Amino acid sequence: MQEMEAAAMLQVQGLAKSLGGRPLFAGLELSVAAGEFVAVMGESGTGKSTLLNLIAGLERADAGSIAVGECALADLDDRSITLWRRRALGFVFQAFHILPHLSVLDNVALPCRLNAMPASEARSTALAMLSGVGLAERSASAPGELSGGELQRVAIARALVHRPQLVLADEPTGNLDPDNAARVLQLLAGEVRRRGAACLMVTHSQQAASVADRVLVLREGRLQAP
Ligand SMILES: Nc1ncnc2c1ncn2[C@@H]1O[C@H](COP(=O)(O)OP(=O)(O)OP(=O)(O)O)[C@@H](O)[C@H]1O
Ligand SMILES: [Mg+2]
Repeated sequence: MQEMEAAAMLQVQGLAKSLGGRPLFAGLELSVAAGEFVAVMGESGTGKSTLLNLIAGLERADAGSIAVGECALADLDDRSITLWRRRALGFVFQAFHILPHLSVLDNVALPCRLNAMPASEARSTALAMLSGVGLAERSASAPGELSGGELQRVAIARALVHRPQLVLADEPTGNLDPDNAARVLQLLAGEVRRRGAACLMVTHSQQAASVADRVLVLREGRLQAP
């Protein structure tokens, strides 16, 4: 445990957050090591998506600290958080958030472009990532022409393409058949372990959780052993 804390890529301490006057977390603790893939399970409404939003700096905590690598979120103003998120974070949203007016390829290339990668390199990097999720042949399609499961795979490719330190994934296999779920989970886990990134994945799926190094359950405002 001591060793893991020394190499923590994500460190959450004493986190508190209330929504609508109801406390969701009080004193929540979490440490994820570099190269570690952690699954978070728990009943609907316990605050799993809110926890990811807090770690991504999309919402502010009421108390406590969140550090990703060397970066302590509470020290950053909103502009700095946006810049940090663009560089260091990959986020697979529960509702995908694929931009409808960009092609599949341009959606996946976007994080690279936002990090100032030249356009041709961004496109080839994005195409390689799309082939990793089995969608290379759909790269020119408009998102509106894709199924829910295909959009989910585009979202996963986009979350990994710029090689972020931390990947947050909210139900990334919720719309996938078992074969495609297994494929994207292997991709997620492989990317995270090979590059020494960290991944926190919210899931209701035992299949998805079984790929993780560690499973935690969000219950009564704390992350607990299953
Ligand atoms: N802006 C808000 N104002 C008030 N309450 C909110 C707000 N956003 C979320 N909540 C409530 O906070 C709780 C946690 O929501 P959250 O989306 O984090 O749950 P979850 O664990 O991700 O659930 P699910 O498994 O269904 O996705 C829910 O009860 C939700 O209704
Ligand atoms: Mg949720």
